[in-house]
Amino acid sequence: MNIMVLGSGGREYSIGRMLDKDEAVDKLYFAPGNGATSRLGENIEIKDYNELAQFAVDNEIDLTIVGPEAPLVDGVVDIFKAKGLNIFGPSKEAARLEGSKVYMKNFLAKYNIPTAAYIETDHIETAFKFIDTLTAPIVVKADGLCGGKGVIIAASKDEAKKAVSQMLSGKSFGDAGKNVIVEEFLDGYELSMFAICDGKDYILLPAAQDHKRLLDADKGPNTGGMGAYAPTPLVDEELYQKVKDRIIRPTLDGMQSENAPFEGVLFIGIMVVDNEPITLEFNVRFGDPECEILMPLMLTPASELFYKAATKQLDTLHVSFSNQYAVGVVMASENYPYKSSKPAEIVVDDIVHDEIEQNAHISYAGVSEEDGVLYATGGRVLVCVGVGDSIKQARDRAYMLCGQVHFSGKKLRTDIAYQAL
Ligand SMILES: Nc1ncnc2c1ncn2[C@@H]1O[C@H](COP(=O)(O)OP(=O)(O)O)[C@@H](O)[C@H]1O
Ligand SMILES: [Mg+2]
Repeated sequence: MNIMVLGSGGREYSIGRMLDKDEAVDKLYFAPGNGATSRLGENIEIKDYNELAQFAVDNEIDLTIVGPEAPLVDGVVDIFKAKGLNIFGPSKEAARLEGSKVYMKNFLAKYNIPTAAYIETDHIETAFKFIDTLTAPIVVKADGLCGGKGVIIAASKDEAKKAVSQMLSGKSFGDAGKNVIVEEFLDGYELSMFAICDGKDYILLPAAQDHKRLLDADKGPNTGGMGAYAPTPLVDEELYQKVKDRIIRPTLDGMQSENAPFEGVLFIGIMVVDNEPITLEFNVRFGDPECEILMPLMLTPASELFYKAATKQLDTLHVSFSNQYAVGVVMASENYPYKSSKPAEIVVDDIVHDEIEQNAHISYAGVSEEDGVLYATGGRVLVCVGVGDSIKQARDRAYMLCGQVHFSGKKLRTDIAYQAL
């Protein structure tokens, strides 16, 4: 099977890493990939989606897997399918579950899927009136994609009103803020769950926890994610069942009724309040770094899993997961998340320790390559992943590997998975 992976981050590297080890895979392509994916397959420099689809036809690519949200929201899946190609990811219509928070919230309300009480509006007075009925903190969200910066948790009604005014005037997020959501604050703990969907059936992966803040003890600014672990002991069978029955099943059924069957990764942001899962949001692709820790826990070959999902055959697949744990620690560049940093050479010590050699690995993200040398060029540079029989063992292995990776200005959290230890 020939497979192409769209994207350039650690998420795409980690999918590629599994495909590289997969006996069913012949040729592996990345578009555009990064400085390390070229060690797993061939990087393709085509940006236009129509040209990329033609490349897939010409090179007999049997399956394309889409990593990031932007191409999905832009409709890359529709373009590939129009050429009769197999591609794993949601259509442009279904990707609105992530692309528009207004669409998502109205969908949840229509199908009685638990979510925070809210209003959606482009009218300032309506928003203010609703804010007056709430007690602080109050959550204000821009409708469109804002790169993870479009949500304000306001400490007072005044602050919430200010956030609404700035969004509606187009000042803070341009067109993405022309509609807003105002919603009640949910007090609980957060989880990410991922379901691989084929429109009607799905496979739920082990629940993960991400670490959004830059610094230890969840201090500092928000980032794309500084580390993750899975499975989390915070989820028991009962909670998994509630998520399946109350959120995933009605979402897949609802999207079929909307004539936008959901194919791809449904990423459910959940707040658990008094043991009840409430939907915070959907994303329509894997989280990064969650993907990097979920991939190594998958025992079913990745080619089979994604191919069956893309061809609506998940009902014939039995997926097995490892009973181990995985912990991923992100190593970021000096100025992340504020601004870019000077390229820095990455040096990985020879790994002589068998335990590390066999149970830890690097997923590369923001890197480029020159004459066989890797340079840190992105914000999040790489993820050190450890696997083990306990969360502690997996974490210790991940950190041992971190100690063997060097580049100028490297930055990492030292407390990944603290919630579980
Ligand atoms: N209703 C809410 N109550 C409490 N916290 C919230 C609420 N909505 C969002 N958050 C917090 O804000 C973060 C970002 O919100 P989210 O809806 O996931 O948007 P995005 O990921 O697109 O920025 C969440 O991960 C959560 O920590
Ligand atoms: Mg989110």
